[in-house]
Amino acid sequence: MPIVVVIGGQWGDEGKGRIVDLLARKARVVARYSAGNNAGHTIINEKGEFKLHLVPAGIFYPDKTCVIGNGVAIDPEVLLGEIGTLQERGISVSRLRISDRAQVIMPWHRLLDRLEEERRGDAAIGTTGRGVGPCFVDKVARRGIRIADLMRSEDLNERVRAALGYWNQVITKVYGAEPLDVDECCGAYREYGERLTPFIGDSQDIILKAHRAGHYVLLEGAQGSLLDLDHGTYPYVTSSVPSSSSSGAGLGVGIGPTDIQRVVGVFKSYCTRVGNGPFPTELFDDVADTLRDHGKEYGRGEYGTTTGRPRRIGWLDTVSARYSVRMNGLAALALTRLDVLDGLETIKVCTGYELDGQRIDNFPARHSMLERVTPIYEEMPGWQRPTTHVRNFDDLPPQAQSFVRRVEQLLECPIDLISVGPEREQAIIVNPIF
Ligand code: GDP
Ligand code: IMO
Ligand code: MG
Repeated sequence: MPIVVVIGGQWGDEGKGRIVDLLARKARVVARYSAGNNAGHTIINEKGEFKLHLVPAGIFYPDKTCVIGNGVAIDPEVLLGEIGTLQERGISVSRLRISDRAQVIMPWHRLLDRLEEERRGDAAIGTTGRGVGPCFVDKVARRGIRIADLMRSEDLNERVRAALGYWNQVITKVYGAEPLDVDECCGAYREYGERLTPFIGDSQDIILKAHRAGHYVLLEGAQGSLLDLDHGTYPYVTSSVPSSSSSGAGLGVGIGPTDIQRVVGVFKSYCTRVGNGPFPTELFDDVADTLRDHGKEYGRGEYGTTTGRPRRIGWLDTVSARYSVRMNGLAALALTRLDVLDGLETIKVCTGYELDGQRIDNFPARHSMLERVTPIYEEMPGWQRPTTHVRNFDDLPPQAQSFVRRVEQLLECPIDLISVGPEREQAIIVNPIF
């Protein structure tokens, strides 16, 4: 049975958590493979409404093993908090496993994230402030602390002393801030290590055993491909690889690219972005407010799941989306939040960009170009009827069907699943993903 990766196709918050929660029904293992607790995945099912930052969205099914892979940056305090909240709400975490090769977000990572954003001033990235970027800096610099290091005081002391030997110089001399204390860090993190010990597992072994025994495995992406360190709107990106290109997904759980059979891309029916950086189709009018505040009365508007920041809103951009389809080798799409467009008289879709009188059909690398492009729009009639109750494609209003078919054509990829609400069952399965 296949290993399927679910990735975000835009700038994050496409509804990956919601889609994984639905698809996990048939899977044996659900694993997070990248990023850290900068992610915020909302799941609404018969157990209630949950916002997960690290625990995979499969946790609500008692028979699924949920894995946090080696590619994830873990803030142990956040993870233990999340585990505690799930337990308090009656969700068992007995099948949660964490790779001891995963990197740990340490206090200096959170501090450096804040100090560096302040130093950048107007050029700030608009990070989530969770220390994820500096944690990946330490990983690449071979200075990182891994979950395995939390298991033994001597190892932890040695690693923290080495890292702080470097970072305290930077913290005091570059940023003029107070240094951090080695013993304080070690004490707290050793305790986290003890509390996490029962959850340690081998992500590679768990995934490959399930795969070879004929079970489905779902790899849950975080963020979106346009925030990808390599392929996104650099430098306004995250510090990891949300796309599945270069086998980012396999890398993050310790399996090979040939083990992955399918990549499903999740796209909103329009676009959002939190944080700074170019956003060609961004809207600043009433339509943006209408889309942002859809469902606000239930706390379900377009506001960051992790930070609560209002999300920037724009029309669906098929230039960047097609780029994303290609970089991920997508075989199927899930289109979410179609119902959010229900009330609109007309809907626009960006089909190309114009710059200095020239049409651009491919997504440019240059930040200064992306900031200046003018979107070329195709306008379509809206349907102005609710779709939240629809479960079959043919029952969608004809204008909604035409919208979906046109998006499919522009993205050069079939839309196999349409989400018409945040709850598990509010979906139209056009073709079973597995
Ligand atoms: P993720 O980070 O990709 O998992 O997405 P988030 O959870 O950050 O943001 C997606 C938001 O959209 C959440 O509030 C979901 O509950 C909600 N959502 C997902 N799919 C749909 C949908 O089809 N319709 C509506 N109205 N809301 C949805
Ligand atoms: P999910 O998984 C949306 C954005 C931040 C910022 C940039 C860098 O919920 O889709 P970072 O803290 O990663 O260094 O910030 O990336 N960002 C996200 N935006 N959804 C996310 O995750 C994000 N994770 C990071 O807003 O622009
Ligand atoms: Mg999110």
